[in-house]
Amino acid sequence: MLVTQQSVLRRFWYPVVPIADLSDGLKTFELLGEKILLWLDSDDRPIAAQDRCCHRSAQLSLGTVINGNISCPYHGWQFDGCGTCVHVPQLKPDQAIPASYQIQVYPCVERYGYVWVCLGEPLTDIPTIAEATDPAFRLIHEFYEPWRCAGLRVMENEFDLAHPTFVHTATFGSENHPIPDVLEVTETEWGLQVRGTLGVVNPELQQQNLGMNEQQTVRTLDMVWFMPFTVRLRINYPNGLAHVIVNTMTPINDSTSQMVQFCLRNDTETDTPSQDVIAFDRAVTLEDKRILESTDYDVPLSLNQEQHMFTDKPGIMMRKKIAALLKAQGEVEYTKEQNLGRVTEFSDQSNQNKSNQNTSNQDKPNQNHVSIKILHS
Ligand code: FES
Ligand SMILES: [Fe+2]
Repeated sequence: MLVTQQSVLRRFWYPVVPIADLSDGLKTFELLGEKILLWLDSDDRPIAAQDRCCHRSAQLSLGTVINGNISCPYHGWQFDGCGTCVHVPQLKPDQAIPASYQIQVYPCVERYGYVWVCLGEPLTDIPTIAEATDPAFRLIHEFYEPWRCAGLRVMENEFDLAHPTFVHTATFGSENHPIPDVLEVTETEWGLQVRGTLGVVNPELQQQNLGMNEQQTVRTLDMVWFMPFTVRLRINYPNGLAHVIVNTMTPINDSTSQMVQFCLRNDTETDTPSQDVIAFDRAVTLEDKRILESTDYDVPLSLNQEQHMFTDKPGIMMRKKIAALLKAQGEVEYTKEQNLGRVTEFSDQSNQNKSNQNTSNQDKPNQNHVSIKILHS
């Protein structure tokens, strides 16, 4: 699946930039191949817009923010947080600004310290993380960086309890526990809930972080996948400590995702300094990153393209759920093969992309679905 080609992925929320970064001025981000810019309006609310002026297509991000409005660098037109042009320097004060002078803005809100953006009509809410509003928990921002892999590979990895023995050899992987003791997968409307238990080793830094001297311990896992690219991984330890990882792989383009990760813990800074928590999770994530960046970003949704085993159940269900979502939206999976023109049949994606831009059409089946046959060259 090439994420930029699946219109329905534009209808989910993604964290794109830490809200604190906007206090330095406007920022840019590439989301699903679309260049956007972000700034704070006069009430300090985040605004997301297409990085393209409606006049002569100049990049608005080369401009400046004036009184909470974005001013285009080319002719100085100014646009407010609704995308409406509110100032045209070339017009006389008594001349009305045409209503068509409008830039594309997107739904945009702050949550968990990040600016979340949806490029279309949202299908679901931003994932609810109960611990984020629980006063017993503190939030620690961990990572914000691009990974050269598909978000779906990371989602599957988080729920893959057969990989720690081989990937997390310097952190928590245990040779004695190549498979989980428990793995229960429940389908929800917009994702999965997975419960599991896994024996792990408990190295020195982690012994301090967890306040546990044992060399081995057990993780009781309560994990939720929020379609398409967010996971909440709650790790409960025998001493009552909960370490909750929240990770979104925000899709930048087909081959790269922005890794956004924070964690929530029910201990204090005195118990465990944040920098020690981050240091251990850094080591863990770098072990994953090395392997995941070696995988193919074109993750096949159909199950006959790659081989599977029983511990892959969560990943298999993720692929099935995304495939079902595409089908419900009248889309077909778009792969590298389509890009190379080596397929016998595909749906006309350009029509689907056009229909997606008109949000009023988004809940209707794609009226422009066209099947095209292409001969092998
Ligand atoms: S291109 Fe933006 S004001 Fe002219
Ligand atoms: Fe991992």
